[in-house]
Amino acid sequence: MADLILTNTEGPVGVCTLNRPEVLNALNIALMDVLIERLEAFDADPAIRVIVIAGSEKAFAAGADIGEMADASLVDISERNNLARWKRVAAIRKPIIAGVSGFALGGGCELAMHCDMIVASESAQFGQPEIKLGVIPGAGGTQRLTRAVGKFRAMEIIMTGRFMTAKEAFDAGLVTKVVSKEQFLQETMALAREIGKMPPLALKAAKEAILAVDNTTLATGLEYERRLFYSLFATEDQKEGMKAFQEKRKADFKGK
Ligand code: HXC
Repeated sequence: MADLILTNTEGPVGVCTLNRPEVLNALNIALMDVLIERLEAFDADPAIRVIVIAGSEKAFAAGADIGEMADASLVDISERNNLARWKRVAAIRKPIIAGVSGFALGGGCELAMHCDMIVASESAQFGQPEIKLGVIPGAGGTQRLTRAVGKFRAMEIIMTGRFMTAKEAFDAGLVTKVVSKEQFLQETMALAREIGKMPPLALKAAKEAILAVDNTTLATGLEYERRLFYSLFATEDQKEGMKAFQEKRKADFKGK
């Protein structure tokens, strides 16, 4: 069987490429399990500072594998415990950039929304079409899409199942930047390389603090940020970063 996830590294960037082209990268359980294993390996690898998840030019992922769900009973679907899988994706501490071209639908859109930045090709289409299958999003779509684009747009997207273009998704706040179809992977890698130059402990702290927005009040979030900010003064990278500024040279971050 072909590798469901292709992995490669480029300096501090670890890349996972979804590889089920015959079904537009539909996310079956086997693919999700390999993806999680590779993400966790990159998360644990000190040489990697940032992770990219990409699909093909035609599809990031067209959703969960409908063939795997069509005949499932309530017991089957709940015993699969997919929530536990998605929690492991959400628990990755390094920044993840989604490189999205073509379809990012259902679980595919939800996978992109588990990432921390989304670089979209101008051909990208985002949507949560589950309503047309008689269900609703099941991997956080109702929550994350609403947080990204607001209640009134999320209601319409989820209740009609229509797709958003890359431009609409960008204007609505779901997408970090829109790039040409030909360049989407290069542009995703360029952003990853830029972030990969940054101090890894500060990157993780930034991700943790920003994601805390969803679970805290402003007062608690500010307190949380303050503690993470202080904690970075225990790192060599903070000393190096500030010293390099004063000495007018490039900082050499070690992740220590
Ligand atoms: C299984 C899928 C699939 C999916 C596409 N395919 N999406 N197989 N699960 N989600 C398969 C098709 O059956 C087809 O296989 C091949 O991929 C190419 O797709 P076509 O439909 O022929 O391509 P096209 O006409 O270009 O249409 C593309 C499309 C359409 C608009 C993306 O495929 C589509 O609507 N797909 C389903 C999108 C969807 O509803 N996603 C949400 C799934 S539910 P054959 O063998 O015929 O060539 C979900 C719930 C998440 O994600 C819950 C949390 C886990």
